[in-house]
Amino acid sequence: MSDAVPSTSPTAHHHHYDLRTRYRARQVRESLAKRFTKLLCSAVLSLLFAAAFVLFILWLALRPHRPRFHVSSFSASPLPSSSSSSSSSPSPSSPPTSFSAQVSVRNPNRNIGFFFGPFSGSVYYRDDPVASDPSMAPGFYQPPKNTTAIAGRFVGSGGAAAETAAAGMAIDLETAGTVRFRMEMRSTVRFRVSAWMAWETHRHALHVSCDVEVGPDGLILPQYKERRCSIYFF
Ligand SMILES: *[C@@H]1O[C@H](CO)[C@@H](O)[C@H](O)[C@H]1NC(C)=O
Repeated sequence: MSDAVPSTSPTAHHHHYDLRTRYRARQVRESLAKRFTKLLCSAVLSLLFAAAFVLFILWLALRPHRPRFHVSSFSASPLPSSSSSSSSSPSPSSPPTSFSAQVSVRNPNRNIGFFFGPFSGSVYYRDDPVASDPSMAPGFYQPPKNTTAIAGRFVGSGGAAAETAAAGMAIDLETAGTVRFRMEMRSTVRFRVSAWMAWETHRHALHVSCDVEVGPDGLILPQYKERRCSIYFF
């Protein structure tokens, strides 16, 4: 108090008192400003927190999952006979002329529906297209929690490439007893939040790729059934 600054005259004392008052006033102003800043900060923070919470709840409620594709059946016929039966001369093997497949499409979402465009499909052997089905399935709407089967009949493309592929298949059958193919499907998909928001996304190109192996009978091996296909969006 007064011991800090020795006050001799009344004017000095008055001056000292004035300084103290001003100092106190400044202190009050500063603490008010501090309190206001604190209040503002906590308001903004709680607003942010509330917004994040709402977004989290929305995300929990909607949580979009991609469509799931599984091959449930696949066959190639006729498979080129393995050349072991006629080892004397490498007989010209003929490629499979037709493939058939059944694919299950699952919408795992509870609130999101899929609008699929028409599906086209191809079968590849070692990256070479060997058969195709340009109109595998028409477009359709898939409601939430729905599983739909689509079937394809792929017709062999023939030609020199098919002959080369057939020779490769004959060797695979001879050495491994199986032939590996890749089935690919192309379509488009739009997502629609079904419940209380009539909200739809743009159309995305959809590309599905399934690895399958068949035995000497041309039928899919059990371990390739119900295997999840890879999917890509563009
Ligand atoms: C899936 O949806 C289609 C088209 O709406 C319907 O015909 C089919 O019965 C549904 N399948 C199941 C398992 O709900």
